[in-house]
Order: sequence, then C-alpha cells, then structure tokens
Amino acid sequence: MRMYDLITKKRNGGVLTDAEIEYMIGGYVQGDIVDYQMSAMLMAIWFKGMNAHEITELTKVMAKSGDMIDLSAIHGKKVDKHSTGGVGDKTTLIVAPIVAACGGKVAKMSGRGLGHTGGTVDKLEAIPGFRTVLEREEFFTIVNKCGLSLIGQSGNLAPADKKLYALRDVTATVDSIPLIASSIMSKKLAAGSDCILLDVKTGSGAFMKTFEDSVRLAQTMVAIGEGAGKRTVALITDMDTPLGHAIGNSLEVIESMDVLKGHGPQDLTEVSLQLAANMLYLVDKGSLATCRSLAEKSIADGTAFECFAAMVEAQGGDSSVLRNPEKFAKAPYSGDVLADRDGYIVRMNAEECGIASVVLGAGRETKESTIDFSAGIMMMKKYGEAVKKGEKLATLYTSKQETLAEAERMYKEAVVIGADKPAAKPLVYARVEKDHVEKF
Ligand code: URA
Repeated sequence: MRMYDLITKKRNGGVLTDAEIEYMIGGYVQGDIVDYQMSAMLMAIWFKGMNAHEITELTKVMAKSGDMIDLSAIHGKKVDKHSTGGVGDKTTLIVAPIVAACGGKVAKMSGRGLGHTGGTVDKLEAIPGFRTVLEREEFFTIVNKCGLSLIGQSGNLAPADKKLYALRDVTATVDSIPLIASSIMSKKLAAGSDCILLDVKTGSGAFMKTFEDSVRLAQTMVAIGEGAGKRTVALITDMDTPLGHAIGNSLEVIESMDVLKGHGPQDLTEVSLQLAANMLYLVDKGSLATCRSLAEKSIADGTAFECFAAMVEAQGGDSSVLRNPEKFAKAPYSGDVLADRDGYIVRMNAEECGIASVVLGAGRETKESTIDFSAGIMMMKKYGEAVKKGEKLATLYTSKQETLAEAERMYKEAVVIGADKPAAKPLVYARVEKDHVEKF
C-alpha cells in the first residue's frame, strides 16, 4: 500500500477501505507517513468528506492508537460529557458535581484551551494547588469517594488524534465534520465511560457556525457512540454569544461556583441544568423531567457545591477559594469598556470576545504561552440588553497593562449596539438522539 495512492483515491472522491484507514493512521503515528502527505490527505477529506462507515472506522482506529481505559474499578454507571468548544463555556465545572450529587459517576478527562476557546483543565488549574495529573488508581479512588474527578488527558489517550489535531490546526483542516467527529469520539471511546453527552456548540464562537452543520456533526457523533455500544445524546447549544458573564480562568471558576450556590447567571444556569438533566437521564435516574428536578434540588440543597469542594480537596486544591472567591489572586490591571451610544446589544461575536480574552492573557497565543489565571473579561451587558451611552459594557482584567487598549478595541468591535431590541435566541436549539432530532 502507498500513501500516495490513498491521497489520490480520496482526492478523486473515493471511499477508503478499513485496511487503508488502518495503514494510514498506524503509519502516521509511527512516523512512517510524513506530515506533508497526511496534510494532503486531511485536505482531501476536508473537500471530499467521508461516508459513515469510513468515519466510524477512522474513529475506532484512532481510539485504539493508545490506551483504552478500563473504568470497571469505579462503581456505578459512568457518564462522560464533551463540549465542542466555546467562549465562557464552564459547564463541566457545574454539571459534573451536579451529576455526582445525584448519584451518577463522572470520571472525566478534559482538555486545555484551544485558539479562542477555553479549556476545563486550565480553569481547574486556576484553583491553587489543584492537581490535574493523577495516577489511574488515585483517579478511580476519588471518583468512588466524591462521585467525580476531573483530570487532564493522559499522554497516551488517542495519540493519533493528538498528532492529527496539531497538523489540522496549522493546515486549515479543523472545521470538517468527519475530522471533528473522529477526533472527539476517538477520545470519548478510549476514555471508557458507559454513556456520553455531547454539547455541540453552534454560532459565531463555535467550530460549526450554522445550525444545520451542528446537527450533522451531532448526528455523526451520536451514530459513532451508539455504534460502539455507548448510549449517546447530543444537545445543540448556543455559542453565538459567550456563555455566562465571565471569560477567563479564575473568573469562570468563581462564576461556576455562583451557579452551584444558586445565584449564577440565568443563561449559564439553564444550559447547565439541561446538560446535567440529560447526563442523569443517561445514567437511568428517571425521565428528563425527573432528572431536571434532581439537578435543581442538588443546587438548592448545596450538595452539588459540596461534591465539587470535596473533589477539589481530594485533588490537593484549596477549597476555601470556592467559598471565599475574593481569595483568588486579582489581576493588577483592569479597564472598563463603555458604550458609545444608547441602544441594545444586537450582536456579541463570541469568537472575537474569546480572542480579546486571549490577548489579555487568559489563553495561549502560542503552544508555549503560560496562562494568566486572573486575566479575562467580566461582561455586564449581554445580547438583547438595553445600554446607555457611557454605561459599562465590560471590565477587562490583565497582568499586562499594555494589552488593555488592544483588547478594548477588539471587544468593542465584537459587541454591536443597535437601535432596536433584537429577537431573543434559544439557549438550547435541539436534542439529538439516535435516529431522532427534537428541535426546540
Ligand atoms: N475538539 C476536539 O477534540 N477535536 C476537534 O476536532 C474539535 C474540537
């Protein structure tokens, strides 16, 4: 077999056989197939796509390129969750403890920020002392004790994806449904949970910008999960506007704790409750309505917050910052962004808001950049709200004073003020199950 012939086949719209996919991924992981040939293949896939069988096979081969984690040492049904990435998306910090408080088990490996999108591991590391690298035994023990543990991806989880993702990132081949679906689902299959909830983001801050593409991505991933014997459901949620009011690592931890204490922003609370209800549904805690009530109760009685605090303690973190958020290190510099006219917020470009937060230091400009946990944006006005000229739209926080002017300019470009109140948008657009799409 020759990679040259496989590239030609895909470029001409052909279908790769199982053996060809295995040869291509195996060879690439081992270094026998070089980056420039794999780049050409990725671009051919970007243009010509893959059929359902090819995507499933690609996913399986990528999953099996590293460790397939056995979670059987954890008692009870394990549910995983994956977001396709967003700005201000801190829902894992909220839904994992809710599910744990209601009797589900969440043994979750999360990722770091990517481009304009934030990552759960970076947010967790904003908690002083919190360890995101654990030995397998300790990970299992914490899940058995606290109901949840959140850690970073182990080095050998789907190494084919790690290598392919880095290549896609620099060859303009990230936003392809077969490539995103196989990337995400290879990690989910390897991570070993019994069932999977997917949060597929849609809108300006998402990889999938349109509802139709988001549904196609969700259906593709649900089919892969179900095909592998794991109950899989997806919600299509809004990422046209950042979620909640906080962007940036410690700011997002504080906001997540606000939700768990029962006084978080409405949009973030609602999306989190719907995600948590679906995860509880997947672990057989009852109908969706029952699961929603269980989730709400775990916030109202404080058990979800206590589950999160217990996990933080077990992973070496200082849980006192969760109870007293003023103990988080403060950014030394801040600046307000003011409205330059009266009107309504008619557009908030989530991707541009995310990039502004990266400029302030909340994300990585390069792979080597270190994150400034205190940096970020607190948004006072969100989509649809009325504003007066001179009123505060947001406050920017950073340790690098020189970034404030650039971030302010970017934020002002991202947030458009118009004369008329815009139509309200749904937070959750649809729920996708095997063979069924329910639009809201
Ligand atoms: N997240 C992933 O893990 N992979 C993708 O391709 C896109 C988002």
